[in-house]
This record gives sequence, C-alpha cells and structure tokens, in this order.
Amino acid sequence: MDYYRHLYRYVVSNIPDSLTERSGAFFFTTYLRWNNYLSKFRLTGEIKQYNFPIKIANMKFKNPFGFSSGWADNPQKMEMIHEFGAGLVASKTITYRAREGNPYPRLIRGKDQLINSMGLPNKGVEWWAEQLSPQWENPRILSIRGENQNDWERLIELLDKKADILELNFSCPNVHDGVMDLEASYDAVKDIASIADSKIWLKLSPEYSPSQNLDFIDRVRSDIDGISCINTIPIKHQKLGNPNKQGGLSGDPLYKELESQLNLFRKSYPTTEDLPIFAMGGIISPERAWDILTDYKAVPFILSAFLMYGPSIYTKFHKHFHDQKYLLYERAIQSYLN
Ligand SMILES: Cc1cc2nc3c(=O)[nH]c(=O)nc-3n(C[C@H](O)[C@H](O)[C@H](O)COP(=O)(O)O)c2cc1C
Repeated sequence: MDYYRHLYRYVVSNIPDSLTERSGAFFFTTYLRWNNYLSKFRLTGEIKQYNFPIKIANMKFKNPFGFSSGWADNPQKMEMIHEFGAGLVASKTITYRAREGNPYPRLIRGKDQLINSMGLPNKGVEWWAEQLSPQWENPRILSIRGENQNDWERLIELLDKKADILELNFSCPNVHDGVMDLEASYDAVKDIASIADSKIWLKLSPEYSPSQNLDFIDRVRSDIDGISCINTIPIKHQKLGNPNKQGGLSGDPLYKELESQLNLFRKSYPTTEDLPIFAMGGIISPERAWDILTDYKAVPFILSAFLMYGPSIYTKFHKHFHDQKYLLYERAIQSYLN
C-alpha cells in the first residue's frame, strides 16, 4: 500500500504551496521518525538501504541515487535526504544575496509532473557559509548562481572550501536572464575554473538543443569536471502567481528530452571518465533509474518524483537494484569503479 501517493493526491495537492513549502521539512522529519518506529511492527515498510558504492571523478558515493537541486535549502535537509537513501544530494541553488523568490502560487502539482516558478528563494551565500560545517561526511554538492562576475567570485570564495562539487546553475528559467546566454556562460566558466578548487559541474538547459549543449561542453570540457543535465523546460501556466505566468516543467514529460540529450553526449564522450554526467528530468521509476545508469552511464537524480511520490522512492530504487539486478549492477558499475 503506497500511503504517500494517496496523501499526495488527496491532501498535499490541495494545500496551498506556501504552506507545503514551510511545513515540508517538518513533515519529512516526522515521516522519517515514525516510519522507523512503525516499521518495527511491520506497519510500514522499512527504509532499506543496500550497499551500491560508486566512484565518479575520483569521488566515492554510497550509492548512485542522486537528489537534484531544488528542495534542500539548508544543510539539515541535505542530510535528511541521505537518510532516505540518496547517495548524492545537491543543495537548492545558492545566490549571492538572499532572495524571496517569485509570488505565490509558484508550484502547480500534477499527477506525474510539476510546474514551478520558485525564482530561487534562498538565504544567500553568507548564511549558507555560516551554516555549513567545516567537516562533512557525505559528499557535498552545492548549486550556485551568480548574476555577474563579482557574485560568482564571492560565491566561490565563501563556498569553495566547503564543497566537493559546485554545480553552476546557468539554466533556471524562473529568474531574469535565468537561462544564460552561452557566451556569458563561457566567460563565467573560464573565470570560475581559474579560481575554484572544488570540482565544477555545469547544469544544462533543455532550452538549448542537444547539439548546442554538446558544442558548449566541447568548448569548456577542460575547465569542468562534469555536467548535470537537464533543468526544467520553460512553460506558461495561468495559475502561477508571477505576472508573466512563466514557470518550468519537470517530471515525466522531461524524460524524452533527457534521453535525446544524453544520447548525443555519449556519442562524443562514451564513458564516465570521458564525461561524468548527473542525469535528471523525468526519472520517476526504478526502471528509468536503472536505464539511465546502464544505457547512458549517467547517475540518476530525482526531484519531482520525490515531491510527488514521497521519500520511499529511494527505498524502491534500492530494492529494485538489489532484487532484480544485483549481479548486473556489479557488472554495470565496473566502468565506474576503475
Ligand atoms: C520545485 C522545484 C525547484 C527547483 N529548484 C531548482 C534550483 O534551485 N536549482 C536548479 O538547478 N534546479 C532546480 N530545479 C530543477 C531540478 O533540479 C531538475 O533539474 C528538474 O526538476 C528535472 O528533474 P525532475 O524531473 O526529477 O524534477 C527545481 C525543480 C523543481 C520542481
């Protein structure tokens, strides 16, 4: 019995997004505690984690299940997602100054898709730099976004020593100039790569075709360590609160676009060593996660599936990989384990 699906359909989808945004962390913390407790009496399923170690770009992760940028707006939430079973967790995008984000409503929930116009609400880089402990156990992926060279440099200065990977968000459709012009992105990458010690990951936009994105990757390949592909697809929706009714589509409908981008990238960069890839966009089932890992040698990341189907999605990934495919998994990850 999948309780969360019913909860999502009949309750969560009908609550104003301003409320779910504020109560989400409390809800998931309570869910985590109660689930651990109730599973002892077999009233709920256990949050099961198997051992699927993976090595990418010389970093070790507990498992190949990622969490995309967009929900974890503080370090505690990042840790919580690891407890649910993710091996790689990206922070929500951090900007130089704190941002309120766009007017509500800014999240429209569908059955298998979401439209959001959040507008990168966050407490700003100084707040994050204070909150992040100087030592950490799980690899840290921080998503960042500057408006200009000064912003980028300040973001690097404050976060470089506190992250394993800095993911450059050039692709948010919900802020002014959000999907950055490729020439501006090129200049920013060169500048950032020259000052950062952390690994640099680029988050790509589906607004650019696979071949445009590939050309861009070719130009900056020596400056970056990997890519994240893809951000949301720009779309209009009358219920969104911002005056332009502009938002970004995520979930199931993105999967086709994700595959066509990955298909082309892997023709030029066949292995993980050639180009490490974090893949996101419509990965809403364990089967899709498996295909992304084995067919495209990319690490499956989720966000919409977590928000729509609940945190037990990670348990399903673990179980599926373990029950059905364990031996295949071992074979499939040989290329990741060097
Ligand atoms: C509510 C919401 C907020 C998001 N916020 C961010 C963000 O802050 N930074 C970012 O790079 N991507 C953000 N994204 C995009 C996701 O990281 C991801 O690229 C996209 O949703 C596709 O994956 P999915 O289909 O699994 O959701 C957001 C997406 C959603 C639904």
